[in-house]
Amino acid sequence: MDRQELEAGARNILLTNLRQGVADWNGKEYSFVCPSLTGYPFQWFWDSCFHAIALIHLDLEQAKKEMTTLMSGALPDGFMPHIIFWEMEKQPDFLARNIVGMTTPNTSATMQPPIIAYAVERIYQATGDEEFKNAALPVLMGFYRWLRQMRDPDNDGLIAVIQPEEAGTDCSPKYDEVLGLEELSNQGFIAALRKVYAAYEPLRGDDHRVLAADLFHVEDVLVNSIYVMGLRSLARLLGDAPEAAEFNLEADKTRDALIAKCWDEEAGAFFDLSGVDEKPLKVVTISSLMPLVMEDLPRPIVERLVDTWVTDPKHFWTPYPLPSVPASDPKFMPGNPRGFIWRGPSWINTNWFLSHALRRHGYGELADTIVAKSQECIEKSGFREYYEPFTGEGLGARDFGWSTLILDM
Ligand code: GLC
Repeated sequence: MDRQELEAGARNILLTNLRQGVADWNGKEYSFVCPSLTGYPFQWFWDSCFHAIALIHLDLEQAKKEMTTLMSGALPDGFMPHIIFWEMEKQPDFLARNIVGMTTPNTSATMQPPIIAYAVERIYQATGDEEFKNAALPVLMGFYRWLRQMRDPDNDGLIAVIQPEEAGTDCSPKYDEVLGLEELSNQGFIAALRKVYAAYEPLRGDDHRVLAADLFHVEDVLVNSIYVMGLRSLARLLGDAPEAAEFNLEADKTRDALIAKCWDEEAGAFFDLSGVDEKPLKVVTISSLMPLVMEDLPRPIVERLVDTWVTDPKHFWTPYPLPSVPASDPKFMPGNPRGFIWRGPSWINTNWFLSHALRRHGYGELADTIVAKSQECIEKSGFREYYEPFTGEGLGARDFGWSTLILDM
């Protein structure tokens, strides 16, 4: 597949999955790409940011609309929901198969990894559109301030998620212990999640109380690495404005806390911290590598991650890297056990993050291989949700939006 064919394939998906109209519940116009027409027909927060980044290569106007639609869902207190149910008629079917934490009928009450300022920055770089930037800035400042004020109760710079879906890596084995997962299956996961949801019922919407309840309180490495990325983008977008320093300082603080509290020198990996007492969840997953997205990650840590984990065929260097869980883990599941996701297969979005990160740290060849192998997966079986890390076979949803990120790799 050459570039043209890849673009044609991506364009096809982004156009097919495009949803446009006026919502009957708030009268707002929407125009966004849904992750999958069959499985995920609404607007998801981080998917939407990835779609916008892919669209930069195809249709800048649509990239702006994608972000404008997402930002129109921000609440007055700054919070941005992880799902906006624009087309409510599709909701009953979706909620019959999934559970979502909600306090209003039309949006979720939970977040997703805060990549949005980076997506807006990329669109601004590509268009120079000041009006777009100026309209985005108050929403972005509101959201990143909300994260700091609502999700960092111990004020250490690390924000916490209240349930696994907030980190976007839903069934990752790193949460098994916290969730008290009894059965290793998607049903087991949903059953464990239902218990958390039930306990949250009287607290939903009051995140300080939810976090104080200490039921699922995870300072997640992937989320915080992306938080740093977003904060840096926001500071750059702010340029000479006085607020730029506020967000840069927060990024420094989060970076320092990741290194001081989440880095495990013995394992040579980053671990999430669970609970108010910050117990490390010592399970290596793709998230353990995510601090590589920070350009100023100290060199010895970069080398350790690359040498110990990324390039070892026992761990992440499978024929189609990078698997969501290292092949060495007893819980590694390379196939597709009925929606029990993030437990083995390779995903294009994490490959997008990590190929760019590795290139910036000077590992051009590794990055090239990750890109070439990602493309090979797409050539073999189309734009799928995720891929088998030994064979490259496509798995999960078909015509999946964020796999078009290949255009930006
Ligand atoms: C799954 C993924 C999540 C993604 C959503 C929509 O729940 O785990 O990261 O945002 O699907 O694609």
